Amino acid sequence: DMGGHDTYMHKEMSEQAEAVDRVLRGRIDDRFSTVHLGGLNLDAREARGVRRIKILGCGTSYHAGLIGAGLIEELARIPADAEPASEFRYRNPVVDPDTLYIAVSQSGETYDVLAAVQELKRKGARVLGVVNVVGSAIAREADGGTYVHAGPEVCVVSTKCFTNTVVAFALLALHLGRIRDLSVADGKRIIEGLRKLPGQIEEILAMEPEIEKLAKEYAGAQSMMFIGRVRGYPVALEASLKLKEISYIHAEAYPASELKHGPLALIEPALPTVAIVPDDDLLEKNRAALEEIKARSGRILAVAHQNQEKADHTIVVPKNENELDPILMGIPLQLFAYHTALAMGRDIDKPRNLAKSVTVE
Ligand code: F6R
Repeated sequence: DMGGHDTYMHKEMSEQAEAVDRVLRGRIDDRFSTVHLGGLNLDAREARGVRRIKILGCGTSYHAGLIGAGLIEELARIPADAEPASEFRYRNPVVDPDTLYIAVSQSGETYDVLAAVQELKRKGARVLGVVNVVGSAIAREADGGTYVHAGPEVCVVSTKCFTNTVVAFALLALHLGRIRDLSVADGKRIIEGLRKLPGQIEEILAMEPEIEKLAKEYAGAQSMMFIGRVRGYPVALEASLKLKEISYIHAEAYPASELKHGPLALIEPALPTVAIVPDDDLLEKNRAALEEIKARSGRILAVAHQNQEKADHTIVVPKNENELDPILMGIPLQLFAYHTALAMGRDIDKPRNLAKSVTVE
């Protein structure tokens, strides 16, 4: 049942405020400025013993894991990174007892992720799951973890589950941070930011008519470039994946700082760039990248917290805490991919060649 929407993707994008509300509900502890995650199976002493965190997932879940790794480093100061589960599995990884492994999956059935979890467990590692489907194979195989509570996702491409997974990582990062060195004041600041998310998501969803107009302007492009820096780079990766999956427009994502090391050669009027430009400590650096693109007559669509002079269009999104901004900045680009694909007459809920869960190698 699409509940009055034309596609599941549209229904699922529009459910994101309530989905985020659901993943937050009952977990915030204002007294200690932290959160409780019931099923983690990792006590405070064990959490303090973690020396590294390695996050494994595929596709959109891998991108959520990249943002999750950033949140864990920022809030908990534990070295963390994310890697595609299949790459990890085939490179005979060094499995280290002081590393905490986290498997991320919407379906909980993705074969490459499940096989990585099984291999890790066989080698004695501790593996947590950040999973949406309750009781799925990865959830059962993991030593503990947290459910994402996005609710059922039917559209082949992931939207609301991506957003909720990133929020679940923010909760985990806050929890680990408050066990380690994150101050009460910073804990409180992040909690206040988390509480603002559902309302801010509604504000972004209300911008759909404006985004639809922009999407129609860009729908003729052969190819698009997505750029971001640090917190914005995984947002660029995910936005680029979403666009290619449903519109079949070729897209690639680069860290903004890498432009001058090669991809700047591609910039010309026919190759538009979507730039993630948050109001944080890297704002000036990002603006410099926009200037470089403009100097080559490239068209620019910015997602930012204030209008960007060098951009042809700016989608202005509400500001949250710097650490939480990536959660919001991806949402207008889901709508952008959606309306681009719609303008091109694509079958949005069932893109060619793709399946909702990839249970084979
Ligand atoms: C992208 C998409 C895929 C999945 C990937 C992992 O929109 O849906 O990239 O994210 O196949 O699936 P899960 O999260 O079920 O493990």
